[in-house]
Parts: sequence; structure tokens; C-alpha cells
Amino acid sequence: MRLNCTINGSQYSLVVNSDKPLNHILKEHIITFSENSQCLGASCGNCIVLINGNAALSCLIPAFKLNGASILTFEGFQKTRFCHDIERAYADIGNQPCPQCYAAKTIIIESILNKIDKESQNRLGRFRLGTSGTSGLGTSGQSGWGSQGDFGGQASSGSSSSANQQAARIRSGEGTISPEIISHEIAMSSCHCIELSDLEKIINAAYKYRSKRRARRS
Ligand code: FES
Repeated sequence: MRLNCTINGSQYSLVVNSDKPLNHILKEHIITFSENSQCLGASCGNCIVLINGNAALSCLIPAFKLNGASILTFEGFQKTRFCHDIERAYADIGNQPCPQCYAAKTIIIESILNKIDKESQNRLGRFRLGTSGTSGLGTSGQSGWGSQGDFGGQASSGSSSSANQQAARIRSGEGTISPEIISHEIAMSSCHCIELSDLEKIINAAYKYRSKRRARRS
């Protein structure tokens, strides 16, 4: 099959077997892919990449699932400002993954941050619908969009300052980091060098850097 995808920001059009796993494709075509294990899905985590922003074990992803995908290896991710946010968070918290799983954990953290981002954007969208008063959604408290259950009723209180504070909390990702999401993602790496509590702190710190940068741009 012909596989059209983006790898580390460059467009590729490759002829590959449709069931060839992504880690093999990367090793054959991308000389900077540093995977160093062949556990074949037993979650060593060393083959982790980002596919469309989500962490995935590349040894388990066949070519036929990748047409149009945007793939980022750790080497590609390291060149982005998003990686810099996570490195700053490691320094702030005074803890970081061991050398063996550094790349895998950093990619997983980025995947979690992307999920928090998405959830925050969704919540912000619902919040705005609840405050605009034009859609009808969220004002009755029946639909769930911007309803009291979601936002404690502040959206309809008429207080713009509390609404602004609420919007700022949503933008900061507050309340969207669930331990379940973290545990689910982190299970892709079998190395337990970092306690879950420290991981949460690192994710929080990295997300703050990301939010600050976004606020400066807007
Ligand atoms: S080589 Fe993919 S999880 Fe180990």
C-alpha cells in the first residue's frame, strides 16, 4: 500500500506492506527513531510515539491505520516548545523519569496534556454557551451544556467577574486532570520510576507553562 503521512513535520509517501508495524516503518525510513526494544507490545514503552497528539505503542500500529496521520517521535518532539514546557516542569518539581523511560514518559505526559487541553476547550465552549444567553442551552440547567452541574451556576449568576474567574480556571486546566486518565496513559510504560503523585505535579506545572504561553499569544 501507499502510506501518506507526516513524520516529525515532514510529508512522506511510502510504499509499505499494509500490516507492517509503525516502529519498523520508522526504523527503515526515519534514521532518528531511537526505539531500543522489541518487546512486541508488552509495554516496555520504548517504541512510544505521538499519533495525532495521542501516545501510542508504535509496535502495535499497522500501516493501514496510518494514512493521513501526523506522527511525532521523541526526537521530533524534543525540538518543540511543548517539550520545553515539560522539561521545565521536571526541573520545578525536582523529579524526572529515569534515562530508560525518559522519552516514553515525556511523550505520555504530552499526550495527557493534549487530553486536558481538549477537555478544557470543550468545557470553555460549553461555558461560553451557558453565558452567552443566545443559544438557550445551559440556561435551563436541563441540557447539561453550561448547566449548574457543570459550572456551579456561576454562569447564570450575572457576575461577570466570577464568570471570568471560572473561565480562567477552565483555561488553566483546573479540575480536568483525573488520576484515571493519568493511570490509563502511564500504563503504556512498564517503568515505575516516578510516583503518580509526582507525575500529577509535573503535569500540572507543564500545563501552567502551556497556558501562560497561550495567554501571552492571545
Ligand atoms: S517495543 Fe513496543 S511496547 Fe515494547
